[in-house]
Amino acid sequence: MLIRVPKGWDLPEREATPESAYWNRRELLKAAGFLTAAPLLGAGPYPAKRGEDYAIGTQETEEWAATSYNNYYEFHPTDKTAVKGLVGKFKPMPWTIEVTGLVNKPQRLDLDDLLKTMPFEERVYRFRCVEAWAMTVPWTGFPMSALIKKVEPKPEAKYLRFVTALRKDEMPGLKMAPWYPWPYFEGLRMDEAMNPLAMFVTGMYGKPLPTQNGAPFRVIAPWKYGYKNPKSIVSIEFTAKQPRTFWNDVASSEYGFYSNVNPKKPHPRWSQAQEKVIPKMEMRPTLMYNGYEKWVTAMYNGTEF
Ligand code: MTE
Repeated sequence: MLIRVPKGWDLPEREATPESAYWNRRELLKAAGFLTAAPLLGAGPYPAKRGEDYAIGTQETEEWAATSYNNYYEFHPTDKTAVKGLVGKFKPMPWTIEVTGLVNKPQRLDLDDLLKTMPFEERVYRFRCVEAWAMTVPWTGFPMSALIKKVEPKPEAKYLRFVTALRKDEMPGLKMAPWYPWPYFEGLRMDEAMNPLAMFVTGMYGKPLPTQNGAPFRVIAPWKYGYKNPKSIVSIEFTAKQPRTFWNDVASSEYGFYSNVNPKKPHPRWSQAQEKVIPKMEMRPTLMYNGYEKWVTAMYNGTEF
C-alpha cells in the first residue's frame, strides 16, 4: 500500500493564496520597492537583450508549436509530439560541462557560473530539420567563440566534439531504442564553431530552455540541419581529427559531417527543395545555408554538404 506523507510544499487548498490576490500583493510590493521584476523570472539572463545583427526577417514560430514538436530520441525515438510529455523526470540543474582535449585550460564548467559571466543575447534564427520541417525561434545564448576563447585551444585543435546527457532513469527513449549508439554525439570544425552565428543556447522565448528543446545547454548553428544542434551537452572535447557523429554512425550515406542546409542537394530519400513550416506545415522554398549564406559561404569550398 502506498501511504502518502504530505511534504512541506503540499499546501492545503484552503491555505493557498488565490492567484489574483498573489499578483496584487506582488504589484504592491514592487511599487513599494521591495521587489524588482527579475526574481519573477528566476535566476539567469532572461529575457536577454535582443541582438539584430543576424536577423533575416522570418516570422517567429509561436512558442507552443516550437516546444511541442521535437526530435529528441532519448525521450521518444519516433513521436515528436510525445517528447514534451515524457521529460518530467529530467533534472537540468545543477549542470556541469566538462571541457577536455587540446586546450590549455581544460576545466569543468558550472552552468550557473556561465549564466552569470557569458555575454548573453537573444537572437531570432531560422531552424531547419533534415526531415524538411522548419521553424523560427528566439534563442537566448552566447557566441560559441566566447567559451572557446576562455579555454584557450591549442593550435592543433581543429574540431569540437560534443557529447550529450545519458540518464537511463530520466530519459525513457533510451530503453525504447537501445540499438542507437548512445549517448548522442556531434561535432563542428573549429572555424564553424568560431563563426559569429554559432551559439551555445540556454533559453528560448525569453525563458530557460524547456527540456524537450535541449535544456539546459545546447548548440545552435542555424545554417546546418537540426541534428547538428545537440541538446543537453555534458562535454566538449577539442580534437585534431574530425570527430565521428551520431547520425553518420547510424547511416553514413544519409547524414554527412557538414550537413549544411542545401536545397539543391536532395537527401537520398527525399527532396530538400521545399520546407514545411510548423505548425501548419505550409510549404516554402528551402534557402541555401538556411538563409545565412552571407555569414558562412566563405568557410566552405562548395563541397562540404
Ligand atoms: N540532441 C539530442 N541529444 N538528441 C536528439 O535526438 N535531435 C536532433 C537535435 N539535437 C537530437 C538532438 C534533431 S534530429 C533535431 S531536428 C533537433 O535537435 C530538434 O530540436 P528541437 O526539438 O529543439 O526543434
